[in-house]
Amino acid sequence: MNVNTQKVIISKDLQAELTAAIEAVGPDRLFVLTDTTTLALCWPVVDKMACLAGAQMITIGASDEAKTLDSVSHVWSQLQSGGATRHSLLVNLGGGMVTDLGGFAASTFKRGIRFINLPTTLLAMVDASVGGKTGFNFGGLKNEIGVFNEAETVILSTLFLRTLDSHNILSGYAEMLKHGLISTPQHWKELLAFDVFDICHGKTGAAEGLDSNEGQPTDSKHDEALARLLAESVAVKERIVSEDPHEHGIRKALNLGHTIGHAFESLALAKGQPVLHGYAVAWGLLCELYLSTKLAGFPRERFYPTLQFIKENYGSMALDCREYDNLYELMTHDKKNVAGRINFTLLADIGEIRINQQVSKDDIFEALDFYREGV
Ligand SMILES: NC(=O)c1ccc[n+]([C@@H]2O[C@H](COP(=O)([O-])OP(=O)(O)OC[C@H]3O[C@@H](n4cnc5c(N)ncnc54)[C@H](O)[C@@H]3O)[C@@H](O)[C@H]2O)c1
Ligand SMILES: [Zn+2]
Repeated sequence: MNVNTQKVIISKDLQAELTAAIEAVGPDRLFVLTDTTTLALCWPVVDKMACLAGAQMITIGASDEAKTLDSVSHVWSQLQSGGATRHSLLVNLGGGMVTDLGGFAASTFKRGIRFINLPTTLLAMVDASVGGKTGFNFGGLKNEIGVFNEAETVILSTLFLRTLDSHNILSGYAEMLKHGLISTPQHWKELLAFDVFDICHGKTGAAEGLDSNEGQPTDSKHDEALARLLAESVAVKERIVSEDPHEHGIRKALNLGHTIGHAFESLALAKGQPVLHGYAVAWGLLCELYLSTKLAGFPRERFYPTLQFIKENYGSMALDCREYDNLYELMTHDKKNVAGRINFTLLADIGEIRINQQVSKDDIFEALDFYREGV
């Protein structure tokens, strides 16, 4: 599979970059995949670009509920009836659901056609659209079916973020915070200092902003600052993935916050009060940094500012200690466990990663107590 050849561009001039990326492939036919929301909100950002003239549109439902085999089948059918050959190209225009599902559909159609990712959520920009994991949900399990295969090119344009709501911005920012924690003190500090709501403020007057900005270089200060942070964040993921594309070792660093975070996410879903992935990750980071402080020597002077940032921006989920066993049970089902043992990624310091850490049930419950009382 095509791992580690992916080109990630932090956009300065979307039209020029997209034109070059499409010309580099030189497809016989061009298809654009959106979900219903990105068709309405993101397609207008690019639809007048000459490089997309004549593109055939494929649209699936929005959100993870549409990340199904039925949607994959719809994409395959549309490619087939649209006359796609192995020399055709699929442009995925959407969040992580669209880039994951479109990447899978492209990777399997006629044994693989090429695809470009144009991520439109912050989460997809810094996480889902890079790193080569594609797939869809199956049999009640998330991302159960999929392949590793990278896009030809990924173009990260902050233009798309102007229509994204603040909760989805914060959700993506949690993954950026994770990248800060597993990289350098400098990057971590920049992330804590950045006014994340700046990103949301930048979209005031979104409709006019998009119309007047179509395909033009970004120019506002907050876009530039954000683009710098994005570039750094995505470089952290790329560096780790390039060392371990198939997740046998160091790629597990990207799992920081996710062992407990996924359990929070599943519990919230089971209670009928779903939370965005990044919120669950932020709360998971908090618990896992507590464990890192207790068990791996993570410095308290770095724990507390991170705790403060998460408290201020993400609040917390109501938790009852009678739910601990349920959460623990959910952690034992984590995909990354080996031989039934819960595998944590902990930190001895910022960037000092300790993978495959076993943590006792008592310590996990203590971290949950800390979360419940301290946040
Ligand atoms: N492949 C990976 O390594 C990886 C990593 C992390 C997450 N993921 C996957 O990514 C998905 C989550 O990503 P997501 O949070 O981007 O979810 P998503 O794609 O479902 O997007 C969230 C919502 O925002 C809407 N949206 C997208 N762009 C928008 C825009 N610019 N303006 C307004 N609304 C917009 C979407 O239509 C959707 O309703 C999950 O399926 C997850 O499994 C994959
Ligand atoms: Zn995540």
